[in-house]
Amino acid sequence: MNGKLIVFEGIDGSGKSTQAKLLSEKLKTLGFNSEYTFEPTNREYGKKLRDSFSSNRLTIDEELDLFILDRKMHIECDMTPWLNEGKVVVLDRYYYSSIAYQGARGYDIEKIKSLHADFIIEPDLVFIFNFEIDKCLKRIEASRGATNLLENKSYLEKVDLIFKKFQGNKFIHIDASLSIDEIHNNILSFVKPLISN
Ligand code: ADP
Ligand code: TYD
Repeated sequence: MNGKLIVFEGIDGSGKSTQAKLLSEKLKTLGFNSEYTFEPTNREYGKKLRDSFSSNRLTIDEELDLFILDRKMHIECDMTPWLNEGKVVVLDRYYYSSIAYQGARGYDIEKIKSLHADFIIEPDLVFIFNFEIDKCLKRIEASRGATNLLENKSYLEKVDLIFKKFQGNKFIHIDASLSIDEIHNNILSFVKPLISN
């Protein structure tokens, strides 16, 4: 695979999708082949998951199973072919979200990692957005009018604590309180060296 995989993570409303889409568009204007994509996907399993967030949350085992099935399909049908074509894949949420969200719901984190070990493609960069939970919830209410079953403060606090623990060379923690342009430029400063290699 000669493409690159760049992942955006963080709690709901932190501004990930805005930045992931902006980055993918910017890369195209710079002459790179780029795809923006997201999880849960719009395929069968992803749709089932989204429905459950607005009506009746599944059991933790059902929920994690569906995220894994959805991710396997995403990797097999979309991401692997794109990466083989040399594209820069900009991915809005990945298995770090399973670690953080299903981990915060009580699933053993080491078990979540081991369930992914045999099929995951490791990313080149992971941006993790940090922003106050109250402000994230306000942004969601302002943009969508309502929050879903996952978007409550006490749950997102636990999720956020897990996200903050990802450390290492490929993890970049982003101050999401800055303006859209400032964050975009910050992100580009990490992405440009990666894609110019
Ligand atoms: P996420 O994908 O993390 O849930 P979004 O990118 O959908 O978040 O952003 C949620 C809302 O916040 C949107 O209405 C978006 O326009 C707004 N938003 C995103 N980034 C910023 C920012 N840096 N400053 C102010 N508002 C922002
Ligand atoms: P998404 O539609 O990306 O929401 P947002 O635009 O707010 O980021 O994701 C839906 C929800 O799914 C989000 O609250 C996070 C959750 N999620 C998990 O619980 N586990 C996972 O593995 C993934 C990918 C998402």
